[in-house]
Amino acid sequence: MALTKIAKLSEIGPGSSKAIKIGDKSIAIFNIDGKFYAVDETCPHQGGPLAEGAVEELTVRCPWHGAIFSLETGEGIAGPCGNGVRHYDTKVSGDDLEIDIS
Ligand code: FES
Repeated sequence: MALTKIAKLSEIGPGSSKAIKIGDKSIAIFNIDGKFYAVDETCPHQGGPLAEGAVEELTVRCPWHGAIFSLETGEGIAGPCGNGVRHYDTKVSGDDLEIDIS
């Protein structure tokens, strides 16, 4: 497991989300009730920005055509979700949020 610092906790308050670039990856981070979830930011359908999608329970709906993905696994649940998106494990370390990008 290779943990990488991706953000300060204060950047992603409860109920918010943010797209963050790491190298050539763009990752969508969600704070749901103080727990952090990370998946690839780019929707596999036509590239919609998942960090801008509507969150319902532990899913996100792509803002472009409505594909729905699990924030717990990245699995596609409904709509044109292809094979889903990559999910990343997250860890809070002090004031930092880390993800496993290995
Ligand atoms: S780009 Fe996400 S559903 Fe079409």
